[in-house]
Amino acid sequence: MSVCAGTISRRSFLGRAAAAAFAANSLPAFALRRPPFDTPKRIILDVDTGVDDAIAILLALRSSELKVEAITAVAGNVPLTFTLPNTLRMVEIAGRSDVPVAAGASAPLLRRLFTASYVHGANGLGGVEFPEPKLKPVAETAEQLIRKIVRSNPGEITLVGVGPLTNVALALKAEPAIVPLIKEIVVMGGSLSGGNVTPAAEFNFYVDPEAARIVFDSGVPLTMVGLNVTQKVLFGEQQLAVLEAGKTRASEAAAKILKATLEHMRTRRGMTAKTMAMHDPLTVAHLIDPTILTLRDEYVEIETSGEFTAGESVGYESAPIRPSPAMKTGQAATETSATEFKTNAKVAVAVDPERFFRLLLPRLTMAP
Ligand code: BDR
Ligand code: CA
Repeated sequence: MSVCAGTISRRSFLGRAAAAAFAANSLPAFALRRPPFDTPKRIILDVDTGVDDAIAILLALRSSELKVEAITAVAGNVPLTFTLPNTLRMVEIAGRSDVPVAAGASAPLLRRLFTASYVHGANGLGGVEFPEPKLKPVAETAEQLIRKIVRSNPGEITLVGVGPLTNVALALKAEPAIVPLIKEIVVMGGSLSGGNVTPAAEFNFYVDPEAARIVFDSGVPLTMVGLNVTQKVLFGEQQLAVLEAGKTRASEAAAKILKATLEHMRTRRGMTAKTMAMHDPLTVAHLIDPTILTLRDEYVEIETSGEFTAGESVGYESAPIRPSPAMKTGQAATETSATEFKTNAKVAVAVDPERFFRLLLPRLTMAP
């Protein structure tokens, strides 16, 4: 008889201990579940799935505070040929094949696609292979579906963009009349503390700065969740142990993807960090529990013309708003500092990482 039979391995023991510790510390049930009388927020989630996008999709689809009207895929972390099937896979894994998924842009508005397979793996899911999805995308494009849903539900829909903003910008450009009909746009992107692709730019805005600019200039109420907060919510060994102890399809898939990605980053990129920032899930979590983030009103401009700074988000807390001095060859400078100061976005400036993980982990590991 095997001595191992019935023996709890050290790993699974640690997983159970971590899960128990999390459960013991968990916020009261009312903080984790929407009271039945609240109306769910109606959202369209735009993703470039992507490791953290995958977790964001699972979180959104397993949270009754949100009614996900559609999920739209865009090229970003990896090409659309991966982000679209990855999105369909996550929707299937969440058991939510009722949610329409649409294919979006395969390239940014004006630029060649730059991907982040160096983090997300060539297939966008850390190299973990899942079966081909049975679910098919709807016939409409992302841009068409966004416009249709917003048009038929004026003032109701929040667009949540956690990839390059190409699909959202295309929808706004194609039908500017939807601008006043959108309740809000919540974006994972930008930063008040420097970039992660260049010293200036965060990935989503770096990939499609022109799209980000269209969104920030649109006049739709905006929330920006940038690297200055997302890089403080770090998924590591402790959280992995909790997921691995979970028994849902969502927690099993999430654990596999995150474990492989941490390994991929360590071995292929020679990175010493044993953690991964939960950029996109934090953005979704903010919609479920707004106390996780602290927001501040700012005026945010997106740099599009800088040779080394395109995609940078420049946040102003107060006047003056000053572009670079005018060129001698151009028109005389306008007195921009005299322009009335107006804010165009709520920017996340502080985060409670513990509260975030106390929301995320039970949502993935517990039966819905
Ligand atoms: C953002 O870029 C992507 O790699 C992530 O999915 C996230 O949306 C972080 O800069
Ligand atoms: Ca993303």
